[in-house]
Amino acid sequence: MRLIDVLSIAVLLLLMQNSIAEIPGCDFYDTVDISKAQRFSNGTYLYEGLLIPAHLTAEYDFKLLANGSSERVATHVRGCVCQLRPCIRFCCPPYHKMHMSKCKGDMSKVELDTHDPLVNLTLRDGSVVKRHFQEDLIVQSDLDLPGCPKMYFLDHEMPGNGFTLFENGSLLRHWDTKELNKREYCVQHLSFKGKSTRIAPHFCPLSSQPTKTWKTVAIVLSLVCIVLTISVYLYVEKLRNLHGMCFICYLASLFLGYLFLVLNLWRYSSGFCITAGFLGYFSIMAAFFWLSVISLTLWNTFSGSSSWLNRFLPENRFLTYNLYAWGMALLLTAITYIADQVVKNEQLKPRVGVGRNCWIYTGDMGVMIYFYGPMLLIIVFNTVMFVLTAIRIIKVKKEAKNFTQQHTTTKRLNSDKQTYTLFLRLFIVMGLSWSLEIISFLLRKNEDWAKAFLVVDYFNWSLGTVIFVLFILRPGTLKLLKERIKGKSHEVGASDENISLQNTKIDPSVF
Ligand SMILES: *[C@@H]1O[C@H](CO)[C@@H](O)[C@H](O)[C@H]1NC(C)=O
Ligand SMILES: *[C@@H]1O[C@H](CO)[C@@H](O)[C@H](O)[C@H]1NC(C)=O
Ligand SMILES: *[C@@H]1O[C@H](CO)[C@@H](O)[C@H](O)[C@H]1NC(C)=O
Ligand SMILES: *[C@@H]1O[C@H](CO)[C@@H](O)[C@H](O)[C@H]1NC(C)=O
Repeated sequence: MRLIDVLSIAVLLLLMQNSIAEIPGCDFYDTVDISKAQRFSNGTYLYEGLLIPAHLTAEYDFKLLANGSSERVATHVRGCVCQLRPCIRFCCPPYHKMHMSKCKGDMSKVELDTHDPLVNLTLRDGSVVKRHFQEDLIVQSDLDLPGCPKMYFLDHEMPGNGFTLFENGSLLRHWDTKELNKREYCVQHLSFKGKSTRIAPHFCPLSSQPTKTWKTVAIVLSLVCIVLTISVYLYVEKLRNLHGMCFICYLASLFLGYLFLVLNLWRYSSGFCITAGFLGYFSIMAAFFWLSVISLTLWNTFSGSSSWLNRFLPENRFLTYNLYAWGMALLLTAITYIADQVVKNEQLKPRVGVGRNCWIYTGDMGVMIYFYGPMLLIIVFNTVMFVLTAIRIIKVKKEAKNFTQQHTTTKRLNSDKQTYTLFLRLFIVMGLSWSLEIISFLLRKNEDWAKAFLVVDYFNWSLGTVIFVLFILRPGTLKLLKERIKGKSHEVGASDENISLQNTKIDPSVF
């Protein structure tokens, strides 16, 4: 008994020591500055028509910052008001506006006249009630803002942007079903374009979100590298064979895709948002179809003239490939466009250009149908083609050993094999990065995974740079480029380094 007595006295003493500075059992973020409220002789305060008993008040000489550290401020009285009545955590004083995530000035007359003072509050029992933010709730507006240079907000009328505000002050973000506490979010009235002025939650970007600057740097560098690569391929005649031309088309589509991505990032395309969204979609899809053309032509190269494909392909192959790649991309774009008009179910719609996002909507699984799904099919197709080509190469090599033409065949084969490895690298880079992109999309709501996959995003945006390094900054291409600059490219024959494919048909009859 005695030990327990001693212990409880010790605990009591500890609690009392704390209560000098803080209200026991009350989170700082549940308190409000009540020093301007009326104080009765018995210690009770009257704040906003609410009686606050003395034990729920205390003098504070600090304020707790959102990141957990405290800051010294002038001594003032705070009351644990949120335990008595639901609070609403404002970013700034009511009727003020936010600009660039900072509190700034009052609402305009129009905004004051049209603002919606009601919020949907979810009670403990799960029922949803409408509450006037100032008459029914306690406004907390002196708490520290979540510490980030730029806050995001939710417009609940946009798909996936819903939220639930609980009586205890927690906010449920529907997008990733993450519950934010009052340190992590705040609400403020916001004027939505062409709509009402209403209360919208604000919060910091996910820590897994890339910074706009670095994303821009990566993409712009990619764009420059793509232009350089195309220039070299157009300049050096030897590179302008069938594969090379397909490669140029692929790069051109990729260029357009990245261009619309970066325009969207900086909101330059908001004037023609839906068009930009579809153009971006078309370009990325075209890039994928060109990649499949490249894998098909490679396979065809090693399959010999007897392959079924050759029988079907008309004389002008390049024209056929163009019709196929651009046509298929156009077809998918048309399907997506029609689906956007026809489909009633919000979740199954592509929602291109919804909100301020001039791109296909990537917030939920709908994007799998229109964007990542077709992409995945092409990646699978390419994988199959590359494996088949590899098997074919091994076979041809084995057969060649038994014949006298061995030498020439091997030489030709070597040159083709170099092309194969070159494009295999491209395929791995492109296939892998986009496969990972899809996985990263599927895991986007898990903050830890999303952070890890940020590397993949950067890799994806740097694809143009990677291609430049792989295709231009290699000894073979540099040599061709040097020769071309010296203007004697015609003198050089097909060396092993030469990746030209002018004589690449491996005719089975030579065996
Ligand atoms: C303190 O005084 C106020 C006003 O006289 C009264 O309404 C309140 O009930 C009192 N509280 C206590 C705990 O006595
Ligand atoms: C919290 O933020 C303040 C500035 O807002 C800064 O001075 C302080 O160092 C930060 N504390 C921690 C632990 O990050
Ligand atoms: C509040 O609930 C109503 C339905 O009762 C709904 O129409 C409205 O969009 C909701 N507002 C917010 C901000 O969630
Ligand atoms: C607030 O209430 C919601 C729903 O009742 C609950 O899920 C959540 O854990 C509560 N948060 C806190 C901090 O008590």
